[in-house]
Amino acid sequence: MEPLLEVKNITKRFGGLTAVDNMDMEVFPGEVVGLLGDNGAGKSTLIKVISGVYHADAGTIFFEGKEVRIDNPMHALRIGIETLYQDLALAENLNVYANIFLGREKLKRFLGLINVLDHDYMLNESKKVLDRLEIEVPSLKNQIRTLSGGQRQAVAISRSIYWNAKFLIMDEPTAALGVAEQKNVLDLVKTLSSQGVPVIIISHQLHDVFSVATKLVIMRRGKKVAERITKDTTTDEIVGLIVGSLPGDYGDVNDGAKETAQVGKETGSVDEGQEGKQ
Ligand SMILES: Nc1ncnc2c1ncn2[C@@H]1O[C@H](COP(=O)(O)OP(=O)(O)OP(=O)(O)O)[C@@H](O)[C@H]1O
Ligand SMILES: [Mg+2]
Repeated sequence: MEPLLEVKNITKRFGGLTAVDNMDMEVFPGEVVGLLGDNGAGKSTLIKVISGVYHADAGTIFFEGKEVRIDNPMHALRIGIETLYQDLALAENLNVYANIFLGREKLKRFLGLINVLDHDYMLNESKKVLDRLEIEVPSLKNQIRTLSGGQRQAVAISRSIYWNAKFLIMDEPTAALGVAEQKNVLDLVKTLSSQGVPVIIISHQLHDVFSVATKLVIMRRGKKVAERITKDTTTDEIVGLIVGSLPGDYGDVNDGAKETAQVGKETGSVDEGQEGKQ
């Protein structure tokens, strides 16, 4: 099977700081990849490169087997890569189905003269996508501001799926949610993957990631340090890889434990160049 998404040798710098350093990652259809790493490891920067927010300084992205240059977030959406940040970009004062059709409203002719919103169509289509994803909200006519965090997340995911997202990226989707809502969002991730839509999920909540991800990719200081099949590893091993008390699989970050221990004290640059010289 061919990966749906492949990133190769991606590097992204901010001035003297290498936020993402020569990263490789493959995501196959239906896979749920947990992208893990401590604060500042480079996770968000990597997914912002994939979703067109940043341009990489080096490296290549392949999507559906073809090399792509993702110019901006709209371009990413057009090819089917959808990213959900914590700020979900929903319109608080509009109802559920109006949010699903936000910016892409369906119109119909009224009395053969003027265009009006086709509420019935949008309501029915929205119902279909929510059913497909087994999402329950009190009513599709309720304004978004009346919904809980988890329900909002579900509406945002439904919108992505309705508009043909082929690939979903979620950065800290459960951070602000209650326990039951976290579970709903994680169930939704499982539903998506069972329907063939791969998901990259970033979360500091290891338990969540272990419950949904089939594969784990661990970053430290911009670099990939290891990749594990979830069922073949343990949280202890993953924590060790995240903090650097365990060596990674690739030679050049083996002194990570020492480096990580010093990170809190450092005030200046965390330029990887210094690491190489030690
Ligand atoms: N726009 C930016 N300008 C300058 N430096 C940045 C920018 N965005 C991120 N960085 C730096 O790049 C590094 C990686 O940041 P990133 O946000 O990717 O980390 P992260 O793994 O998502 O961390 P967290 O778990 O805290 O969200 C950090 O050192 C951060 O300070
Ligand atoms: Mg982040």
